[in-house]
Amino acid sequence: MAKDYKKMLEKAKEVSKNAYAKYSKFHVGACVLASSGEEYVGCNMENASYGMALCAERNAISTAIANGEREIDVVAIYSPNMDDCTPCGACRQVIWEFSNRENPCVVVTEVNGKPKEYRIDELLPAGFDL
Ligand code: THU
Repeated sequence: MAKDYKKMLEKAKEVSKNAYAKYSKFHVGACVLASSGEEYVGCNMENASYGMALCAERNAISTAIANGEREIDVVAIYSPNMDDCTPCGACRQVIWEFSNRENPCVVVTEVNGKPKEYRIDELLPAGFDL
């Protein structure tokens, strides 16, 4: 598996520029590497009805799913507003849904310009499964 986390963070940074963060002013971009080797990006998208905000991670994963992907290996997340921007609880559960059970999805954030790695089962112990 190619793991160029720096490049993925660059893509996340680029797409974070498109974030529609009119209310929070908190911009986020995500780049997802699917098991096919393809990458998909997404940014957060807010709404005047605040609770309808969609996170960058879930937007990127939705695009991956719409393109036929069913497994994700890496999610890189970048925010110009915060170092170490880890996914919210809801996104952790969504990442868990599409993570390989034996080889859990890696979540990458940026800290002081460098990639920091987590495993999804570390960020979300005892994730929900049916
Ligand atoms: N947000 C994300 O897109 N991803 C995260 O990991 C944290 C939060 C968004 C949701 C909302 O648009 C804004 O950031 C502030 O919570």
